[in-house]
Amino acid sequence: MGQQDGIRARNQDFSRYEGVAKQQSYHLAETPDDEQFDDDFVIRTCDMRAPDFAQQLGDALREIGFAILDGHGVDPALYDEAERRIDDLFTRLSLEEKMRFRAQRYGSVNQGYFPIKETSNMHPDLVEGWVFCRRAFERPDEFWPSGRTLCAPTGRGGQRPPIDDADFFRKITEAHERLILPIMQSLLAYLGCDPHLYDRKLTATNFGLRLNYYPPMSDDDDASGAARLLGHEDIDMFTFLPAPRAEGLQVLNRRNMKWVRLTPPRGTIILNSGDYMQRISNDIFPSTTHRVSKPRDPAQRRQPRVSFPMAVYVWEDEVLEVLPCTGEPKYAPVKAIEFHTAITSKFYGDDYAVKA
Ligand SMILES: [Fe+2]
Repeated sequence: MGQQDGIRARNQDFSRYEGVAKQQSYHLAETPDDEQFDDDFVIRTCDMRAPDFAQQLGDALREIGFAILDGHGVDPALYDEAERRIDDLFTRLSLEEKMRFRAQRYGSVNQGYFPIKETSNMHPDLVEGWVFCRRAFERPDEFWPSGRTLCAPTGRGGQRPPIDDADFFRKITEAHERLILPIMQSLLAYLGCDPHLYDRKLTATNFGLRLNYYPPMSDDDDASGAARLLGHEDIDMFTFLPAPRAEGLQVLNRRNMKWVRLTPPRGTIILNSGDYMQRISNDIFPSTTHRVSKPRDPAQRRQPRVSFPMAVYVWEDEVLEVLPCTGEPKYAPVKAIEFHTAITSKFYGDDYAVKA
């Protein structure tokens, strides 16, 4: 099936790749004549400082697989600067310079640059992406384009000393890494498991920071019927997504099969559970479908959009096994590399799959 077919395709056309149960059926692209919106559903905000945070978060993910994190302690100024740097990174480099870093698979994850319409083979997404995993921060000269650094204004007192992009985005990944164990421990406690069951697996674990640059849409792009980012579920344990500035993120409420527009306050972090989590939680925390649609206001379609989700994985050799506190297991234990690449081969082709 080619990419242009992807505009008409449905997720169930690719169901043979899935590693967890997904009954929901939807078009990969937006389909205005054949979909509805849920304007009443409120995705819950969970305050990480609250004594009942674990209950709040567990209830939110159990209900829809998405939550909004508040009280997380990450400086929101970092997010503002990240947006400026992403815009700069994608627009200052030529396509030829970016293609020197074209994505290739290391372990489970395709890492590097994805040109517009080539995020996957399934659908011509109107986005450019750049994925940086832990190895990119350990070997920045290999994975980050060298060159200009941005001086971020401090607001008062002039300029900070410049730091390069790798050092800057490392600050974001380290800030988010500090949230991984509190989140996982809360979810395990909610399920009635030993809260520390994943402490070792998730310490200095594998992750993927994806920088997304959605260019201004041309008339042709607009008329093509393609989405900015296709409907999909994340393949990870969970994803941190600092609340984007521009509208577009939509979440499928599988109870009524309507789309929920998600526009949380700036400075908050959207958290969603992925396929790894659905697998180990025995379907209690679903891996929920989401997408990035065109803004409703045509004038906003002429504006770029940026976002920077960070996916949290376990390392490839770890085994994903249904948690002991979640009842009769629906799934067999599976090595992370096999589970992950079998699913992602729907995006990248059958030869992407690695047998453990
Ligand atoms: Fe996603």
